[in-house]
Amino acid sequence: MEKIVSLCKRRGFIFQSSEIYGGLNGCWDYGPLGTELKRNLKDFWWRRMVRERDDVVGMDGSILMNRQVWVASGHEATFSDPMVDCRVCKARLRADQLPEKNGRKQCSVCGGFDLTEPRAFNLMFKTYVGATEDESAITYLRPETAQAIFVQFRNVLEVSRKKLPFGIAQIGKAFRNEINPRNFTFRSREFEQMELEYFCRPEQGAELLEYWLQERLKFYADIGIASELLHVHKIPPEECAHYSKGTYDIEFAFPFGVQELEGVAYRTDYDLRQHQNASGKSLDYFDEETKQRFIPHVVEPSAGVDRATLALICAAYAEEQVTDDKGNADTRTVLRFHPRVAPVKCGVFPLLKNNAKLVGTAREIVQQLRPHMMVFYDESGAIGRRYRRQDEAGTPFGVTVDFDTIGENGPANEGTVTIRERDSMKQLRIAIGEVKSFLSEKIG
Ligand code: GAP
Repeated sequence: MEKIVSLCKRRGFIFQSSEIYGGLNGCWDYGPLGTELKRNLKDFWWRRMVRERDDVVGMDGSILMNRQVWVASGHEATFSDPMVDCRVCKARLRADQLPEKNGRKQCSVCGGFDLTEPRAFNLMFKTYVGATEDESAITYLRPETAQAIFVQFRNVLEVSRKKLPFGIAQIGKAFRNEINPRNFTFRSREFEQMELEYFCRPEQGAELLEYWLQERLKFYADIGIASELLHVHKIPPEECAHYSKGTYDIEFAFPFGVQELEGVAYRTDYDLRQHQNASGKSLDYFDEETKQRFIPHVVEPSAGVDRATLALICAAYAEEQVTDDKGNADTRTVLRFHPRVAPVKCGVFPLLKNNAKLVGTAREIVQQLRPHMMVFYDESGAIGRRYRRQDEAGTPFGVTVDFDTIGENGPANEGTVTIRERDSMKQLRIAIGEVKSFLSEKIG
């Protein structure tokens, strides 16, 4: 994990938030490569979950909502972790994560046994809306994106004219005042979620839970996460939320352990019913075929953008023993991202930077590719070093303009370039006019 954290900083994937002021615990900034990676992940999720389907529409809700949303959803009363204080070192700790010695709970910081009774600590960030900081102005930064979908259910149903089963999808920021942010971006205080609420008839819920589990596993395969790194954990009924009729956690083998990446939950009609009761506004559905009116049930695949981004980096990271140009053994660090999510799809390199024809041709190729994909032009240093820099950034292809390209070794290969493939390091030669379609097909 240390190597991954250091690569993320060195290559500009992820930085500590407010770093020059000592940082802010649980908050992270994405640099140029990390931003592209995260954007590609979100774009592909949106494509799969919304654009390629007839039965899902999107929405983009506000982060601040009426406080009553959080009262009705149960978050204000129960979205909390049990905490204890250590009277010896004053640390505040999660009561359910304390080590035990001889049957007694122990402080994980100083080892002391003098701990307070557990108290509930609400994880929502409280804030005030407007100029007065009194009770009536209180609300919270949303701890999940899902509630905006539930409270807009009627509006979206009316404008989209969808029939059950159908879903509403959303990607956006969520905030939790985690007691113990840790494992790099895995548990953050500010993070992003990609959530789908898929509404259905009560009798369809159980089957749709299985369907969405399989769909989500396919999604992870399609962004290049090997199935051996994924685990499906069926939450035992006694551990599920009281309203849930079944929950699966999709877990990933991070270097710090197997941990949750996404939850797929059958939440019954709990959320819509709570909001209908609290708001007094009807959130039911009229089935024109059966002439029945009922509150739809919902199946929710809820994924973390930051966790999936971290999983992509961990799954892609590899170190290999290779032999360099001079025959010396060397270690190659490479991020084997699937081309679909790779931040940069292609590096473009003139063999030498002081040859106007090589540079001009390379720049023309960049202009041709740029409207279609993220490309990176690099003319500095030995070509082997330039390849290595792109290996570390996870760039799947490198296009090199050499003396064959510009016809200086005869007409046979004029107008062709080499394409180097990151994982095999093999090179092939193709015509400049074919580069775009070759790369587009691989990116998918
Ligand atoms: N609407 C359901 C919901 O929010 P959750 O299991 O609490 O369920 C869903 O969160 C996903 O959001 C998690 O599987 C995880 O990927 C991500 N997530 C939750 N808390 C997080 C945190 N503190 N930091 C990063 N990601 C988090």
